[in-house]
Amino acid sequence: MILYVIEMIGKKELLEKEVRKIKNCKACRVGKIGKAVPGEGNPNAKIVFVGEAPGKTESQTGRPFVGRSGKFLRQLITQIGLKEKDVYITSPVKYLPKRGTPSRSDINHGLTHLAKQLEIIKPELIVLLGNIAYKALIDKSASINKYHGKIIQKDKQKYFPTFHPAAGIRFQKIKKLILQDFPKLKFIIHNS
Ligand code: URA
Repeated sequence: MILYVIEMIGKKELLEKEVRKIKNCKACRVGKIGKAVPGEGNPNAKIVFVGEAPGKTESQTGRPFVGRSGKFLRQLITQIGLKEKDVYITSPVKYLPKRGTPSRSDINHGLTHLAKQLEIIKPELIVLLGNIAYKALIDKSASINKYHGKIIQKDKQKYFPTFHPAAGIRFQKIKKLILQDFPKLKFIIHNS
């Protein structure tokens, strides 16, 4: 128990240190405007949600997934019986990209921060929201269309790919698939 508490405090401090690093990172900020959006949530989370890059609302507030797609994501999270305070929400890219879509170098650099965050949190499961998260953490050449809704194991880490909530808001077909994937995620979480 004592060791567990010490580990929890250690994770919180290490994560805060990484968040400060992200906020002060000059490489992240090249050509960007707005606030850094490092991520937020429980340092001891068993489940981490990884998106793509902050949108305008996130860049104004410094908080991940607080715009329209964020509302949808947070609804999905609570609908499957999770509490926001128990998970961690972040993305590979930490600033609003120039034209909305992150460049390869935005992703490659952001990944160095994301990898540190994941190394500290050590989640049991990483939920990949969309192609950018999938390509960044699993396979550059593959697409989420083929692998969504099931567990993937890579280097002893479990991942659950699904579509990005923003795509679900734009396309009814994708919303349907997300609404099929999340109950599967619920089943996996409650049966492992
Ligand atoms: N989309 C993301 O991927 N991340 C956010 O924080 C907001 C929208």
